[in-house]
Amino acid sequence: MRKPVIAGNWKMYKTIEETVAFVEKIRPVADDAGHCEVIVAPPFTALAAAAAAARGSAIKVAAQNCHWDKEGAHTGDISTGMLRDAGCTHVIIGHSERRHDCGETDEQVNRKVKAALAAGLTPIVCVGEMLAEREKGETEKVLEGQFRLGLAGLTPADFSRIIIAYEPVWAIGTGRTATPEMAAEAHRFLRGLARLEFGESEAEGIRILYGGSVKPDNIGALMAQEEIDGALVGGASLKVDSFTALVNYPRP
Ligand code: PGA
Repeated sequence: MRKPVIAGNWKMYKTIEETVAFVEKIRPVADDAGHCEVIVAPPFTALAAAAAAARGSAIKVAAQNCHWDKEGAHTGDISTGMLRDAGCTHVIIGHSERRHDCGETDEQVNRKVKAALAAGLTPIVCVGEMLAEREKGETEKVLEGQFRLGLAGLTPADFSRIIIAYEPVWAIGTGRTATPEMAAEAHRFLRGLARLEFGESEAEGIRILYGGSVKPDNIGALMAQEEIDGALVGGASLKVDSFTALVNYPRP
């Protein structure tokens, strides 16, 4: 019922030329992958080129961040309207690298989510605990705070348009993946929050992606979990072969 999503978060990698070459190679892969949605998130400089190269294919293009204002004196920022103009359909919001590198807060995440929805973009909203928080038994408390503050004020209809990504910070770029059971437990918890906050059908419909050291050799076990609706992948999304293997993850 929930269509899986395989999304590549390229972070600060790839030039325009590298982006176009990659998108051209994965066009047929995405077009054949009726079982899932395929999204790539290049850096800002390559978004328009990615969208042009993806035109007419099943590939969707996401930005990695946005500002909440429509326009204004915000040096170095990019608005949701500009992302639409560049050909984006999705935007990653609240990635842990932005929370930690740039001090992004849940309140800012919330403003960005609302701005993205207003512009007709699909926000991919990231949540996840740090290692120390998990070790102190605070995972659920952290997830609940990020969920409630980040999604405050959304209507059930708004909520049904977003995608959530559960990305435990200790698993990102470390090669240390959450076990499929650990990830599923966090997803179940998030879906429970969605049920309380937005309603039964919204909770059943929301797609929750797992992110954190997803690779071709572990995606099958993750996707076998009924709670896991896809993956947000960094490192392993950068090479055509491994992204192809992720899109074509083992299915029963
Ligand atoms: P990773 O990154 O796959 O390299 O761990 C995931 C992410 O940050 O979205």
